[in-house]
Amino acid sequence: MAQLNSHYLKLKAGYLFPEINRRVKAFTDANPEGAARLIRCGIGDVTEPLPEAVREALHKAVDEMGTRSGFRGYGPEQGYEFLRHAIAENDYRSKGLEVADDEIFVSDGSKCDCGNILDIFGHDNRIAVMDPVYPVYVDTNVMAGHTGEGDDKGLYSGLVYLPCNAENGFVPAIPKEKVDIIYLCYPNNPTGTVATRGQLEAWVAYALANDAVILFDAAYEAYIKDSSIPHSIYEIPGARRCAIEFRSFSKNGGFTGVRCAFTVVPKDLLCTTSSGEKKPLHPLWNRRFSTKFNGVGYITQRGAEALYSPQGKEQVAALVEHYMGNAAILRAAAAKCGLETFGGENAPYIWVRAPKGSSSWDVFDKMLNQANVVITPGSGFGPAGEGYFRISAFNSRANVEEVARRLSAVF
Ligand code: MLT
Repeated sequence: MAQLNSHYLKLKAGYLFPEINRRVKAFTDANPEGAARLIRCGIGDVTEPLPEAVREALHKAVDEMGTRSGFRGYGPEQGYEFLRHAIAENDYRSKGLEVADDEIFVSDGSKCDCGNILDIFGHDNRIAVMDPVYPVYVDTNVMAGHTGEGDDKGLYSGLVYLPCNAENGFVPAIPKEKVDIIYLCYPNNPTGTVATRGQLEAWVAYALANDAVILFDAAYEAYIKDSSIPHSIYEIPGARRCAIEFRSFSKNGGFTGVRCAFTVVPKDLLCTTSSGEKKPLHPLWNRRFSTKFNGVGYITQRGAEALYSPQGKEQVAALVEHYMGNAAILRAAAAKCGLETFGGENAPYIWVRAPKGSSSWDVFDKMLNQANVVITPGSGFGPAGEGYFRISAFNSRANVEEVARRLSAVF
């Protein structure tokens, strides 16, 4: 009989968001009135319509594809040159950061990239993740067989957990031991907090000293307001030799349903072979793309390119301002209820400490049943998230104002 990948059987209950959906469905099936009032501030999914510049570019690309001369079949697996160039130029080179067009790999999402990147690493790396953590980093390592079993708290043996808490400002301390791969996500999902330049410098210094690779998830960089906070890991000298960066058009351009993202793999980034020889990762990732992917659709890539036009940039700025206005309202409302809040100033998530004696899922149930609002329980992001909950600012202004009112009714 064919064998399955038994590492999948180690995974806990289910990916966090499907589990939340399951509970919400049980509630709405049993409570039609509550269902009608339900407001979702759980998963960080955008709500506002696509920017006009994107819509125009999408329409134009559809029309082009409808002509003999403009029709395109398979495109370059790594992305069309027009988009790779727009990304490298606008997100990096115009900011003084050295990134070549062919170091950009266009994909259908950062979640996929964060999981797929494991294909180009060996299986004996010591892997460090933050706790709380975006569950994809952990689960994909479990699936790849990089961990042992999980315990009752959801901690997997074989992984190094870097606790993030109010005391360390949700930026983990540099580990005393040697690790080979470190996942960092800033602005952070789930805590909505940021890492300072000094903190990122310390991580890059650690990675260079230990021949480690930082997998830097910058999906929320557009939300940074504080000008002292780096938007890219490549703002830190030396990072080209030790870091891969993930970025997405989901949260800035509203592309969660359109699907487009990219990964930067610098050519200077080297890793060792099993015989100790140093080799670049770039050709491996390039090869992976050519073998396992046929590229993001032309139409979608034209839509993403439009985000870099002057109108596109203005429209993205307006979206960010909208969601950050929501974050300010939610943060203030939670604080007014006497709850301790974190994040929400340079990121669209507010991380809230649950009232004393309440667990994360207690708050989830209370918010669902009494306020008819869906939040995300902090414990779903790892044991260090227990006792916290996350409110997403991705919503309409009217819904956010209503959530603010309901919060004060519940707490
Ligand atoms: C979240 O809510 O944490 C995010 O929406 C998940 C994601 O971006 O995949």
